[in-house]
Amino acid sequence: MSTPALEVRNVTKGFTLRGAFGANAGRVTAVDGVSFAIAPGAVHGLAGESGSGKSTIARMIMGLTQPDAGDILIDGQSILGAQGRAHRGRVQMVFQNPGASLNPRRTVGQSVRVALDAHGKPPARVGELLSMVQLPRHFADRYPHELSGGQKQRVAIARALAVEPRLLVLDEPTSALDVSVQARVIELLETLGRDLGLTYLFISHDLSLMRNFTAEVGILYRGRIVETGPTAQVFTRPQHDYTRLLLASVPVISDEEAALRPQIPLINGELPTAEDLLALREAERKGT
Ligand SMILES: Nc1ncnc2c1ncn2[C@@H]1O[C@H](COP(=O)(O)OP(=O)(O)OP(=O)(O)O)[C@@H](O)[C@H]1O
Ligand SMILES: [Mg+2]
Repeated sequence: MSTPALEVRNVTKGFTLRGAFGANAGRVTAVDGVSFAIAPGAVHGLAGESGSGKSTIARMIMGLTQPDAGDILIDGQSILGAQGRAHRGRVQMVFQNPGASLNPRRTVGQSVRVALDAHGKPPARVGELLSMVQLPRHFADRYPHELSGGQKQRVAIARALAVEPRLLVLDEPTSALDVSVQARVIELLETLGRDLGLTYLFISHDLSLMRNFTAEVGILYRGRIVETGPTAQVFTRPQHDYTRLLLASVPVISDEEAALRPQIPLINGELPTAEDLLALREAERKGT
């Protein structure tokens, strides 16, 4: 691979848990030695159950949270430390809830202009950016509450593009939207990706979207990447029990997938941990 657009190297992040009255209640390792790289222009997915560390990884790539260890490189240059600030403009993020990520007191035009201004770019591009996300230019005068969910998410994408990023981190960008609207937002992202040569990190629970949209995917389980590869391969021939577990948790969309469904035994009514699962498989292999 030429220099990756994004490289995540052995990144780890833990959080201190707070119990009642702020007492220290231990630590959780949200991200545990995660590494992956995305070639320029590629669409890379990150899938995993709730709490597996997806958003924590996204936030570290955005520079919103610092890793405890490891490095994050954009176009070959570390974004950690003082000199990294200069490279952060190259990455922008689109969040799950477009309602919460837009300021309700600003018009669409103002929101986009604030983003342009923050990065020292001229305000003139608002109309052009709205056209890029297939919204009428006069939407610049509207407030977020006057827009549908899909329109708000288009505005959030326009605002992210205002900064002319090379990489977009999409954290569940369509999960708050109706299925029909989801498909059109994904189509828009595909078109923009092609036209602007963008690189995407696409985070989602939705494995059918993952399958349609991404070329490569990493499967995250309890903070670790357990499997990574071309999406078609990971989905049709998963190598890890964790991946099968994840595939088993989504509605079956084909017989082929139905055949992949493992029978996951529950332990005390919960899904087993990675370690439990391996121990069970080992026991099965030994025929005990
Ligand atoms: N600021 C924080 N303080 C304490 N714990 C946190 C914090 N942020 C995340 N965590 C914990 O880290 C783990 C990973 O969380 P994260 O939000 O990255 O998961 P996720 O894969 O994005 O989940 P979801 O699919 O529900 O969005 C979870 O156990 C979560 O509770
Ligand atoms: Mg998340």
